[in-house]
Amino acid sequence: VEETYIMIKPDGVQRGLVGEIISRFERKGFQLTGLKLFQCPKELAQEHYKDLQSKPFFPKLVDYITSGPVVCMAWEGVGVVASARKLIGVTNPLNAEPGTIRGDLAVQTGRNVVHGSDSPENGKREIALWFKEGELCEWTPVQEPWLKE
Ligand code: GTP
Ligand code: MG
Repeated sequence: VEETYIMIKPDGVQRGLVGEIISRFERKGFQLTGLKLFQCPKELAQEHYKDLQSKPFFPKLVDYITSGPVVCMAWEGVGVVASARKLIGVTNPLNAEPGTIRGDLAVQTGRNVVHGSDSPENGKREIALWFKEGELCEWTPVQEPWLKE
């Protein structure tokens, strides 16, 4: 089944947006399979964003992600990776559509409140990176027959 790693970044936690952001994925109908508040060590932030390590903003990005606790989440569902990216909106919040998380709740690329995996492969990779075995739950939501025909 398709899975994505969603993370509320330290600005989202500090600004009290945790409930609001979780609600958007919950109400959409995706299934939560992992959730924790976590202070990210520098090495993990570097590994998570390793594809960006040559970018000039990389040190600032690592400082940002490690500047306070983040909320780590695993969500599953058919098409969840691309759909979550749509719910989140484009990287620069000023260009993100109203109705998206970044479009509604943020103004700067360097403070864009939430992360979402960019492919199903990276969804699996990132969930394995951020969660230990035993931290993820397999369960059947009671609303399933009302979500899927
Ligand atoms: P993520 O979901 O966090 O991976 O964002 P994204 O997929 O929309 O963008 P990308 O993977 O290209 O960049 C990762 C993160 O690096 C962004 O979400 C920003 O927080 C940060 N970032 C990207 N580009 C810039 C930039 O030009 N300046 C700064 N300060 N940060 C940037
Ligand atoms: Mg990305």
